[in-house]
Amino acid sequence: MALMLLQTLLLFVLLSSNLVSAEDESKDETTTGTQQERKLEKSQESLRAFTDEEIAMYDGTNPDLPIYLAVKGTVFDVTSGKDFYGKDAPYNALVGKDSTRAVAKMSLAPEDLTYDVTGLTDREMDDLQRVYTETYQKKYPVVGYMKFDGGLGKLTF
Ligand code: HEM
Repeated sequence: MALMLLQTLLLFVLLSSNLVSAEDESKDETTTGTQQERKLEKSQESLRAFTDEEIAMYDGTNPDLPIYLAVKGTVFDVTSGKDFYGKDAPYNALVGKDSTRAVAKMSLAPEDLTYDVTGLTDREMDDLQRVYTETYQKKYPVVGYMKFDGGLGKLTF
């Protein structure tokens, strides 16, 4: 009898502790959700939306300003790559703008210095993605996104 009572008591304790932890978890989830949202909001606040005109001043001409280059609508601070991108450096033509097409084609031709990817081959799109991930995302901090057609955000190609 005493054993049964003990078992019931134990079961009760186990059940209620389960209930409490389930409640805790759902509370945790809400807290985590809110924290994630706040984090996202904060990261969006610290990121800037650039028009073509706004990014143009970060083209390495003014030594007091950082150097920005956008690929696929993401604006990277490439100041640490001054030897590539600074004034008179070999890839200076790419900066102060979104150079997605140029990066995809490995071209510095003026007509390729644009975010327009119309007509690129699958191979060029793959190359673009590789350089985006392996070079830009790995080496340089993101400072914002290009405002395209009034919209903000990464291009989804
Ligand atoms: C004769 C032609 C070229 C040669 C010999 C050459 C050579 C190089 C070398 C040695 C690097 C450095 C790799 C490293 O240190 O990680 C590099 C990086 C790069 N090259 Fe070229 N390149 C040429 C043409 C081009 C062209 C036409 C473009 C046009 C977009 C281009 C875009 C880039 C980019 C975006 C990087 C990465 C820079 C970075 O790390 O921020 N290259 N190239």
